[in-house]
Amino acid sequence: MTGNGSTRREMHLGLMFWATGTHAAGWRYPGSRADGAYDIGFIQDVTRLVERAKFDFLFLGDRLVTDPALAKTNPAQMSRLEPFTAGAAIAAATSKIGIVVTANPTYYDPYNLARLLASLDHLSRGRASWNLVTGADALAAANFSRAEHWDTEKRYDWADEFVDVVRALWDSWEDGALIRDRRRGLFVDEARIHPVNHHGRYFDVTGPLNVARPPQGQVVLLHAGTSDRSRELGAREADVIFAGSHEITSGREYYADIKQRAAAYGRSADDIQILPGLSVIVAETTREAVAIRDRLDSLLPEVERKPDVRAGALGQATRRRDEWGITGNPVEVADYMQEWFETGAADGFNIFPPFVPGAVEAVTELVVPELQRRGLYRREYSGGTFRDHLGLARPRNRFESAATGSQAAPSRLAPAAAANS
Ligand SMILES: Cc1cc2nc3c(=O)[nH]c(=O)nc-3n(C[C@H](O)[C@H](O)[C@H](O)COP(=O)(O)O)c2cc1C
Repeated sequence: MTGNGSTRREMHLGLMFWATGTHAAGWRYPGSRADGAYDIGFIQDVTRLVERAKFDFLFLGDRLVTDPALAKTNPAQMSRLEPFTAGAAIAAATSKIGIVVTANPTYYDPYNLARLLASLDHLSRGRASWNLVTGADALAAANFSRAEHWDTEKRYDWADEFVDVVRALWDSWEDGALIRDRRRGLFVDEARIHPVNHHGRYFDVTGPLNVARPPQGQVVLLHAGTSDRSRELGAREADVIFAGSHEITSGREYYADIKQRAAAYGRSADDIQILPGLSVIVAETTREAVAIRDRLDSLLPEVERKPDVRAGALGQATRRRDEWGITGNPVEVADYMQEWFETGAADGFNIFPPFVPGAVEAVTELVVPELQRRGLYRREYSGGTFRDHLGLARPRNRFESAATGSQAAPSRLAPAAAANS
């Protein structure tokens, strides 16, 4: 769906923002900014670039460990700004694009995280999103006074309950609770502010939150993971799944599996968008695109160079698909995306730019117009919030029933919380 009332299905696009590029040698590519990760002006400029191309969101990934050895394999992930801090500065410089911040609940407390996300949603006027990951890095435990990295079951048991608490806290202020009527001297309507009284396996949280309900009602939730527990959490809670599918057959299987699981939770296919990551190197001609790719690879440290995957595949300077994505001219790249989009493998993509800003500019100048020409991508935003871009309605507040007599939204919260409404 387009989110503007029309039934035509359009892709959703995000930009995976790694300041020095998603290619290990991206920071060495001519025109790239090797120092971009710490220059907020640069980060804001790149965000505005994709906002002009009507991207759905800018994606700020995160990890809670580092290793200087990453400088050779993944310098963009070696060190970077904390995502909420960067997200707030991006919000101030933009007006439409969604801002996705990654936060691992294993190392947060629900009250803090609900507050951070609600604050970012207010600052951005409804453009915040939480990418919920349970963390790939076992070594993170040692940075958070934990004796060990929890296993999958415990991380997801914790994450499931964590999401319940965060969602309840976002609802703890009804819309309109802040009256601020100077004439009558009424600042708030106390009857519209609710404790959540959550008492579960891991969390005891009384509430209410100390931030008014986020403009989006519920902040958009992204999820990335691979295990069965991850798929269940995503199918039940996520508005967007950031998928790791690398080829179309497994992409279709993953897509069908998630949509099927979502249906079992009473959700429609349109309620959940599945966006694989896609590395794109595009130029006016295939030959130029392949030359860019070769130049990039030649800048890798000797030990990191990969075998030439072109050899024996398509022969000369033709479209090249590798384990990262697609290298080609605008028509070839759009064909590739369209095939995923129209054959049940993707609802759009999280674009990985191998170097920044050049590869981002190339996508916005060459691929986006081609997708628009095909009627596959929006020419204008239809609204001002991230939910609008995704075509998602603003959810009803579960606590509203008492005040309005309307039926409360379904809740997986402990009965104590619901009783409090
Ligand atoms: C596409 C994708 C993106 C991910 N991004 C992050 C990330 O930014 N930070 C992080 O700590 N883990 C990230 N992960 C890892 C997951 O949090 C998780 O640890 C991993 O997928 C294995 O466990 P699971 O599938 O059981 O969740 C990502 C996983 C996938 C598939």
